Amino acid sequence: MAKSRVQFLCNHCGSVHPKWMGKCPDCGTWDSLEEYKAPAPDARAQARSAATQTGDVLRGAEPLTLQQIDESDTPRFASGITEFDRVLGGGIVPGSAVLVGGEPGIGKSTLLLQVAHELSKERKPGARSQKSEEIQHVRSASADGGIQHSAFSNQHSPQHPALSTQHSSRVLYVTSEESARQTKLRAARLGVASEGLLVLAETNIERIINQIHKVQPAVVVVDSIQMIYKPQIPAAPGSVTQLRDCCMDLVYLAKASGIAILLVGHVTKAGTLAGPKIVEHIVDTVVYFEGDRFHSHRIVRCVKNRFGSTHEVGLFEMTGAGLREVRDPGNLFVEQYGPGGQPSGSVITAAMQGSRVLLVEVQALTASSVIGAAKRKVSGASSDRVAMIIAVLEKRAEMRLAADDVFVNVAGGVKVAEPAIDLAIALAIASAHMNRPLAPGTFAVGELGLGGEIRTVPQLEHRLREASRLGLGHAIVPHMGGSIPKLGGMALHEVRRLSQAMSDL
Ligand code: TYD
Ligand code: MG
Repeated sequence: MAKSRVQFLCNHCGSVHPKWMGKCPDCGTWDSLEEYKAPAPDARAQARSAATQTGDVLRGAEPLTLQQIDESDTPRFASGITEFDRVLGGGIVPGSAVLVGGEPGIGKSTLLLQVAHELSKERKPGARSQKSEEIQHVRSASADGGIQHSAFSNQHSPQHPALSTQHSSRVLYVTSEESARQTKLRAARLGVASEGLLVLAETNIERIINQIHKVQPAVVVVDSIQMIYKPQIPAAPGSVTQLRDCCMDLVYLAKASGIAILLVGHVTKAGTLAGPKIVEHIVDTVVYFEGDRFHSHRIVRCVKNRFGSTHEVGLFEMTGAGLREVRDPGNLFVEQYGPGGQPSGSVITAAMQGSRVLLVEVQALTASSVIGAAKRKVSGASSDRVAMIIAVLEKRAEMRLAADDVFVNVAGGVKVAEPAIDLAIALAIASAHMNRPLAPGTFAVGELGLGGEIRTVPQLEHRLREASRLGLGHAIVPHMGGSIPKLGGMALHEVRRLSQAMSDL
């Protein structure tokens, strides 16, 4: 038998190296390489020749032209939790693998148990009409210009065993972290009790797969992927080798059977999945929980999606009875300061999160510091961007900030990556520095250029409409030369330069 090849995998970026090194040459992380034994080559060769003998090679998919591929063949299960479906791009695609990541205690198990419950609910075995209601045929993803490809895109009419009516109601919830009893307690708290939801407390991947074959569920939840292991591999659960192999096995199973698999993965403090990026590469969709345990609101964001756009976010609120959907965020993330209006250093802005507008409050504080050791601390926005904005304020608005500590925070634990909030950050810092607040009901959107110019932002009208709906009456916006539609009661201050915007302070 040929010797299996030993390789070293970085548990941070997933790159493969022939020998161990102290530092990963690709991502620069120290002490991140772990031993990985690739399957022996002759085992693969054997499998290949066996496939040839059984005619598997001949039965394989035929190449098709794009016109021949029917995109409407991508059916989806609506999970019944609209915010979760929105993140996934319209529902769960049969045969897909979804990774749900997040810090411990953020609500992954809670959400997935609720999703599992909704999926297993009310669908009566054999009720054909009901099934056809539940499975929506999704139209082409014209919004992002891509072609909706399914895992079975090379087959004309996917008819998977898991999709046949008698199996479509079952959901298998594999709990590898908690005991079945703990899951039962959580379920009781969430008011979850449906016939079609089966709980399996197991950590051995082979036994899990065996049970999946037996139960034939439509959806399997594995909570969490870091705790399951393959007995043949001499590595601890959660190690690169175990993660990669267990994840691969589950994804192959999903593709071959049409069963959708939802995997839970923990993330490290730095915000990446604990384990290699490889897991992200293997699955079809990756969603992350944002926010923190100290706020009740949770944002579920899609970072990779083979079946839809990655812009969408889902909003939830953690309550005593599980996660509740927030359909209309309104001014959830904006503090209501009452008649006195906002204090200095606080600026409201309208950020786009997928297809919807979220009003958020950018707060800044400046405090005198030891000269030469000024701190810049940012949470919820990009610190590089804030450093740039501070430089623009210094250079183009003659504001002396070198001797000040600057703190910038997006309130409510929201993270906004858009440059459209630049103007709000600049105004918040300037307002804090000069101790002059903006007039009540004012909000600002705009991207800041290095020359101090205010650039236009996408979907300005959409943002203005939402702000107007929520009662904001004064907008500081980039200059558009009168092409901004007049919204009832909204006063617009169109600005070309940062200095013009600062005249509002
Ligand atoms: P959990 O879903 O177990 O988080 P994860 O699986 O991501 O580690 O639970 C998250 C937290 O939510 C936990 O601290 C308890 C709290 N919680 C509620 O506030 N309400 C509830 O109904 C439930 C089930 C949990
Ligand atoms: Mg959990």
